[in-house]
Amino acid sequence: MSRIVYVNGDYVPEAEAKISVFDRGFLMADGVYEVTSVLAGRMIDFAAHMARLRRSLAELEMDAPAGEAELEAIHREMIARNALEEGMIYMQVTRGAADRDFTYPEGAEPSLVLFTQARPLRDTAGARNGIRVITVPDIRWARRDIKTVQLLAPSMCKMAAKTAGVDDAWMQEDGVVTEGTSNNACIVTAEGTVVTRDLSSDILHGITRAAVLRFAREAQVKVEERAFTVEEARAAAEAFVTSASSFVTPVVEIDGTAIGDGTPGPVARRLRDIYIEESLKAAT
Ligand code: PDD
Repeated sequence: MSRIVYVNGDYVPEAEAKISVFDRGFLMADGVYEVTSVLAGRMIDFAAHMARLRRSLAELEMDAPAGEAELEAIHREMIARNALEEGMIYMQVTRGAADRDFTYPEGAEPSLVLFTQARPLRDTAGARNGIRVITVPDIRWARRDIKTVQLLAPSMCKMAAKTAGVDDAWMQEDGVVTEGTSNNACIVTAEGTVVTRDLSSDILHGITRAAVLRFAREAQVKVEERAFTVEEARAAAEAFVTSASSFVTPVVEIDGTAIGDGTPGPVARRLRDIYIEESLKAAT
């Protein structure tokens, strides 16, 4: 069954979904995106994704393609038309089509594209076995807090991981971890404290990260938002990543060093369970 894709006002079969070659998303990566996960046909943390979209658009002085109620209605229509039970909804907003120029064009109509990706999110090999990562230099630009579609750097890092025969990469600067290629990086100390990098323009402000830290604090798990080194991570009791597509996924090896006993740790497993349970309760 071909997916139904949303493009600038129309719901069309994916083979018919078209965008201009002059679209600035295509020419200049002048666009932002959000990925919202869907469980049991309902969206997780949709309001938070909308708030981050608003912020990304504001940082780039880009017009919103539609009001938030309309964006929500489009998401719901995409779930219905694609009979999406479990998976993701990808939404991309670009500045639109205009003659190629580095300055922002006046009066361009923003482009809006949505598509769905059906896939199991709860029962995954990563959740069961944990994932193995390598560390790589963070070669991205300095505004990683804006969720732009310029994803070549993380793509290159993910390919380095694939070539090394592992699942993903953690990016580092001067030996200090920034985040995963498409997720936020966390470690757990011997005392059971969850440590993850503090928010700044150095990392994406993950929606899952925020929810997991909230649930951790509610469950009396100590949380420290601060930078940590690759060395500290390799010696940690546990490690895990958070993202809309991976929820909480244990990391069992960093640069060939087993983390803890090399199997998913209890804190990561518990936080994953709490995250899924609470997200299902609050899903819309
Ligand atoms: N990635 N850091 C980076 C660099 C990311 O690309 C992502 C999300 C995250 C986690 O953010 P959130 O919890 O809001 O998903 C952190 C999405 C899932 C993607 O590009 O597919």
